[in-house]
Amino acid sequence: MTPAIPRLLCPTCRQPLPDSQPVPDSAEDRTTCAACGATVPVRQGIPRFVASQHLESFGRQWNRYEVAHDDEDRATFVAKTGVPLEELAGLDVLDAGCGGGRYSKVAGEAGARVWGADHSHAVDKAARLCAHLPAVRFVQTDLKQLPFPEQSFDFIFSIGVMHHDVDTRAVFDAVARLVKPGGRYAVWLYRRNQGWQESLNDWLRRRTTRMPHDRLESWCRWGATLGGLPLVNKTLNKLVNFSAHPVYENRLCDTFDWYAPQYQHHHTVDELLGWYRDAGFVDLRVLPPEKTGRLYRWVYDRSLLIGSGVNVVGRRSPA
Ligand SMILES: C[S@@+](CC[C@H](N)C(=O)[O-])C[C@H]1O[C@@H](n2cnc3c(N)ncnc32)[C@H](O)[C@@H]1O
Ligand SMILES: [Zn+2]
Repeated sequence: MTPAIPRLLCPTCRQPLPDSQPVPDSAEDRTTCAACGATVPVRQGIPRFVASQHLESFGRQWNRYEVAHDDEDRATFVAKTGVPLEELAGLDVLDAGCGGGRYSKVAGEAGARVWGADHSHAVDKAARLCAHLPAVRFVQTDLKQLPFPEQSFDFIFSIGVMHHDVDTRAVFDAVARLVKPGGRYAVWLYRRNQGWQESLNDWLRRRTTRMPHDRLESWCRWGATLGGLPLVNKTLNKLVNFSAHPVYENRLCDTFDWYAPQYQHHHTVDELLGWYRDAGFVDLRVLPPEKTGRLYRWVYDRSLLIGSGVNVVGRRSPA
């Protein structure tokens, strides 16, 4: 296997960890730190630094639905990172919050060496999706405690992730520290909508986040059906969020993705730009939405589009 650089660090003493060793009579391998003796379980070739917790709705979701579509995922990657695929070859890249791995796959196929990191067991799906890419590897970890040295990636992207933590900014800052001087950092977060939309959404999500996942999924099937109706999916979804993706399974996944997670914070562009500046990033670029069209843009500019984003890419000041 092509070695992925940078190497993983021990969670206890921060020394590099060796490759995993098989554990006799066990479905699990492990890697043991030579310096302090701490061990990290390795299941299905993936080091596990966390036990799953509040983000497990994502583990369910990404393992359950088939939502990767190569052409669409490449286009979305470029739109939401601002980085052309031709610039990725040979770079060390981190997909921060990789979910089912569709964008790790895009970066790996473009020739990058990729680590995909996610808190949930979505990494199992991501590893299956990228099984043909030896330079793409995955780790199950919290992004606030990434097991990598600071300043070790040429490019880090995070698409639709950090707002699902209890503290979005803490995740942004922790991940920012891993960007090399001169390296790039692209982040997409949910946009804050109009007050009345936020209140209605909070009211709904207070209920949906407590539902058992099977029951919530049945509700989301209604949303996915509505999202396929031409007029409805351009009007009613300004009131209540459901996906209008052309493929039913993506609509179901996106709708579940909206209503299941415990935390879902919404942010403004100015807030995100401020975080970049405070963390020492320059050449900041606010990326436009992927979709075009005059009506779309009008609604987007007024922050009326539920589920749309704030999206910035920046470069860490060279040392
Ligand atoms: C909406 S999904 C997006 C996945 C992927 N970026 C994509 O767009 O396909 C958000 C992912 O972020 C992960 N996540 C959220 N907060 C995290 C944290 N603090 N540490 C690690 N993963 C986190 C979740 O487990 C989930 O898989
Ligand atoms: Zn150690």
